Amino acid sequence: MLLARALCTSLWRQGHLHCSHISMDAVDCDVRRVNGGLHFNSRLAAPNVWEIDVDQGLVDAAGSIFECGTPFKSVTEDGEPYEEIATSVGSFFLQRINWKSDACWISVDDREAFDAFSSIFTRMGLAEHFAPLFPDGVRLYSAFYVVRSECSAHNFHVDYKPEVGADAMTLITPLRDFKQTDNFQLSYVAHRGGMLQKEGLLDEGEPGSEIRRYEYKKGKAIVFASKFMHSTEPGAGYNGEPHAYLCFTFGTTNMDSWAQISRTLGTQSRVVVRPDGDYVLTALGERIEEILRMQRDGRT
Ligand SMILES: [Fe+2]
Repeated sequence: MLLARALCTSLWRQGHLHCSHISMDAVDCDVRRVNGGLHFNSRLAAPNVWEIDVDQGLVDAAGSIFECGTPFKSVTEDGEPYEEIATSVGSFFLQRINWKSDACWISVDDREAFDAFSSIFTRMGLAEHFAPLFPDGVRLYSAFYVVRSECSAHNFHVDYKPEVGADAMTLITPLRDFKQTDNFQLSYVAHRGGMLQKEGLLDEGEPGSEIRRYEYKKGKAIVFASKFMHSTEPGAGYNGEPHAYLCFTFGTTNMDSWAQISRTLGTQSRVVVRPDGDYVLTALGERIEEILRMQRDGRT
């Protein structure tokens, strides 16, 4: 399977294969490319979503940073909306997002931390794995831990604007197998039958759609682009155990899509790497810098 995928990717890059000659994504054998830039996963019955294997040793490498010492110990407790966290591999930026849960995003916040996670991304072979979808190359935009210990209600959303298509993706994989699996997983909107004729009409509530659950498992990553409607499943970690996930955002190296992609990424972290490789402040990062400048100048 790996050899077949590598050969397929190689042929694609050499221009011997084109979209019209391949009906299945090389990334996930249950995903088909359909019209309008959409991909449909028949196993999950949902658009623009892939499930892949990831090296558990490399997940452990991310887990050991998370579990080393005290920096991340109390992130799901009440606190300021934003915090800076210093670790031995660099700085992180914590953002409490309060989506009917105690969830927080902890994003890499300096070049050192970005490089540590970029190394994990590279060693996981993710750029090669997704190369069939990005013939010009894959760029890692940012990396996070997502952490939560409870969720009281659904908050369905898509990560990217429809215009982004599959130019940018979110990968999420658990740092370990958590005890709680009866609830507190991932809910998503599945589309039975008819969908391939009606792609583009993918909102929750469409006839034939239903809410399904996806169970996280260590060594498996779920990866999604625009149009994948999802939410944390309500529930809680066993005995309050926080569930922590490794998360990568990545995608095209072409700047044409950046204006739309950054509508999502601009609020998730303080720094980001753009499709052209430049390491820059996000819109949120710019806002925080401006506030700090005003404070320094005595204007607040
Ligand atoms: Fe999301």
